[in-house]
Amino acid sequence: MFVSESELDDSCDEYDEFDDADSAEDTGGMAVLYVCAGGGCQNKNSKKIRVRLKELVKERGLEDRIRVKKTECLGMCGRGPIVKLTLGNLIFMRVRPKKAEAILDAAEKALCTKLASGE
Ligand code: FES
Repeated sequence: MFVSESELDDSCDEYDEFDDADSAEDTGGMAVLYVCAGGGCQNKNSKKIRVRLKELVKERGLEDRIRVKKTECLGMCGRGPIVKLTLGNLIFMRVRPKKAEAILDAAEKALCTKLASGE
C-alpha cells in the first residue's frame, strides 16, 4: 500500500517540487498527511479519504500532532488516490477510505519513532 520516497520512479517531477515545498511542515513535531485533491484523485473519492482521516485524527486526539491537508496533483494520477505522509516520507497509493485507519497508524508510528529518536 505504501512505498518510501526513495522507491518512487525518477520521472515524477511534480512530486519533487511538492517535496521541497512541504519540508517546512515537519517542524515542531507535526506530521502532515497530504491528500491529493487533483482531478484524478478526486474522481476516485479522495475527499472521502480526507474527511475520514480528519475524523480519525479528532477521535484519537491527535489534532496537535497530525494535520490533514489537501494538496494539488502529486503527479502519480494513475496510482491514485494518493496520500503523502511528510514524516517518514511515505506515499500511500490506491487508497480507499477503509484504509484511513492504517494510514493514521503509520503516521502515529512515525511520530513515535521521531520522538524516540529525539529529533
Ligand atoms: S490527481 Fe492525484 S496524483 Fe494526480
